[in-house]
Amino acid sequence: MDARAINAKLRRREVPSEDELRWFANGLANGDVTDAQAAAFAMAACFQSIGTEGCRALTLAMRDTGDVLKWDLDGPVLDKHSTGGVGDCVSLLLAPALAACGAYVPMISGRGLGHTGGTLDKLEAIPGVNTQVSEDHLKGMMQDVGCAIVGATAQIAPADKRFYAIRDVTATVESIELITASILSKKLAASPDALVLDVKIGSGAFMKTAEEARALAQSMCDVANAAGCRTSALITDMNQPLAPSLGNALEVAEVMRLLTGQAAGPLVEISAALGGELLVHAGLATDVQDGAARIAATLGDGHAADIFGRMIAAMGGPADFAGNWQAHLPGAEVQHDVKAPAAGHVAAMNGEALGLAVVGLGGGRMVESDRIHPGVGVSGMARLGQEVAAGDVIACIHAASEDDAKAAEAAVLAAIAIEEKPAELPPLVHERIS
Ligand code: URA
Repeated sequence: MDARAINAKLRRREVPSEDELRWFANGLANGDVTDAQAAAFAMAACFQSIGTEGCRALTLAMRDTGDVLKWDLDGPVLDKHSTGGVGDCVSLLLAPALAACGAYVPMISGRGLGHTGGTLDKLEAIPGVNTQVSEDHLKGMMQDVGCAIVGATAQIAPADKRFYAIRDVTATVESIELITASILSKKLAASPDALVLDVKIGSGAFMKTAEEARALAQSMCDVANAAGCRTSALITDMNQPLAPSLGNALEVAEVMRLLTGQAAGPLVEISAALGGELLVHAGLATDVQDGAARIAATLGDGHAADIFGRMIAAMGGPADFAGNWQAHLPGAEVQHDVKAPAAGHVAAMNGEALGLAVVGLGGGRMVESDRIHPGVGVSGMARLGQEVAAGDVIACIHAASEDDAKAAEAAVLAAIAIEEKPAELPPLVHERIS
């Protein structure tokens, strides 16, 4: 086999065979496929569908270029993937809540890139936490804690690592099938029994329209189910941040307030809806309502908080984090209130601009090598529909300097529209796909 013949098939609008796709994935990992050949494949795949069967074959072949974890546990292994948003700290709630319901959650997560936050960056805002753990450590955490949120090792789907970098510089990331194969090759490497996908739409999401979100959700559900992993997706709203805080330590603080106080609000609702799907897939709940209620109960009764604290300790963080988190989280040098310029109702938010305001403060990265300030961000964000008087505080900026705070204030004000009449509020969950 050779890459030219495989690319020629795509050019003739034929789908390469399973063996050819496996050869191609191996070639990405071992160098037999050149950058030029990989780029040609990627561009061709943007125009010629390889179908669910081809996508499944490519996904599994890319997964198999690296380690595929094996488990010997007395409960189901569950996982969630989100397409990324702002103020989205669902993983930090969901992993311990699922573990509290009797599941095991080896969640391999990513870092923030562009306007979206990353779960690993949030966890690393906690002093001492190390998210790069060995496979043995991860397995130990499943036995001792029931969940772990960790970074992928270089041994997870190396074909995707190379292919993604090539797609990134050749304007070929946008193929739904290549996105599906990329995400699922990494997710399926952790061998989950079931998976739920949180596909976000709206101003703070990568997908701006329902059609795009639906197509991606359907493709990922079809391929993951065809690969033997029970999977469903929720299309959820990202027209405003999910948490009222944006920024790494600030979002962890939000999670801890929910875990140790009153567990209510949009973050809890979305976590319960996603977790409910997984508990049904795993046979741990009778229906999604029952599953959601079980997740919400563990978030409210301290059980998930206890598991979260043990997870943090097992990853090198403070042993007393769950009970004493305020003492451990870093802050920022300057705090600055943002006031409503006029009376009215919060009518719209540009989530992407809010995310970029946090990046501008140093709370995220535009390129992989950027260093993060864990304490900066925005807290106390007003919510869509909220009525405000002129001069009311609608957000608080946490910055490293007065100049940074002023720049972020301008960005936040530009990202929030206040109008006289209340606007219609979007639902939290738009659609379910299976
Ligand atoms: N995230 C991934 O991991 N891969 C893609 O192709 C797109 C987003």
